[in-house]
Amino acid sequence: MYEEKEAVLVVDDEESIREAVCRKLESEGYECAGAPDGKQALWEAFMREFSLVLLDIKMPGMSGLEVLSRLAEDQPDTAVVMITSLNDTQTAVEAMGMGAYDYVVKPFDLDALVARVKKALERRHMSQENRDYRLRLEQKVEQQVGQIHQYYREAIEALAREEVAMNTLEQQKKQAEEKTNAEALHLQFARMLAQMAEVHEPYARGHSERVKLLAHDIAIQMGCSNKLIREVQIAAIVHDIGKVSIPDHILFKPGTLTPAEHAEIKRHPTVAVDLIRQMDFFKSVLPIVESHHEWYDGKGYPSRLKGDAIPVGARILSVADAFDAMACARPYRPRLSNEEAIETLKKGAGKQWDPSVVEALTRIMARESRLLQSPQTEI
Ligand SMILES: [Fe+2]
Repeated sequence: MYEEKEAVLVVDDEESIREAVCRKLESEGYECAGAPDGKQALWEAFMREFSLVLLDIKMPGMSGLEVLSRLAEDQPDTAVVMITSLNDTQTAVEAMGMGAYDYVVKPFDLDALVARVKKALERRHMSQENRDYRLRLEQKVEQQVGQIHQYYREAIEALAREEVAMNTLEQQKKQAEEKTNAEALHLQFARMLAQMAEVHEPYARGHSERVKLLAHDIAIQMGCSNKLIREVQIAAIVHDIGKVSIPDHILFKPGTLTPAEHAEIKRHPTVAVDLIRQMDFFKSVLPIVESHHEWYDGKGYPSRLKGDAIPVGARILSVADAFDAMACARPYRPRLSNEEAIETLKKGAGKQWDPSVVEALTRIMARESRLLQSPQTEI
């Protein structure tokens, strides 16, 4: 059953007894060592592990009980069988209370002693097996408890993540709603500004909204991104709000404008930008608004930008703005037909206007314009 020999330590101050016991145990297959006193016994036990210690109670120096006490503390797996004299069985019983497995009374029969040793070792093995079983059980329980804790931890974390996700979704939804509301308010504000500018100029009423629609169609025709399509429309709404700063006597002057009056008119893109600059909503459309009177050949205002240096949104807005102005009557001239307006734009392509934008508008007019309008992108 046991592959390794069981080691037994025989502790007795009588050498003859030690030797006799050791011989007998060795003949029974045990490995045996002897110690004449308690001190030596503890040393031997310290040097190697014994399965069992046969321990004489009465010894010179350290008593058997003292040795037992030390062994119980240092080598709790070692079985101890006390050896006692007939008149000291009371001490042997006391030793049992201290953890000794058994006791044998001197003089003893060696076979009987071996039987008690075997019995003690069997108890020790059983005890060890029980202890190992208990340990394994405890480990298993601990492992399962750990798994349960892990399961709950993961479940709680998953719930927390879900809650965060829900919160995030809620927040995103709320933020999207707030953004939509804010954008609607800004657009409303922009339209209000445009109307304020247009109210001074009866012939321009509805101009910004019409320019917005046309610029939208041109941007789509040119394959612009949704972002740019949106920016062009916002810019179209506010492009002329700077005209609120132009005195009526200049704005409505029937005759030729003086250079000073002309300079005053030319300020309106910059004034418009100054009016909306403080609002983040308009930030991306400022360059379009500011440049809507730049000319493709660099002769426009306010910065005399040329060609591609003019934001494409501004080049689109410029064409839409001019077309609507020509297509509407003015005090000093009747409205032009769409064809006449397109002809004028074509003549100015490469000078005042970007030829590709004029070309896009020409295609739109040829296909009756509004067919290309996309409800998803119009604001
Ligand atoms: Fe303008």
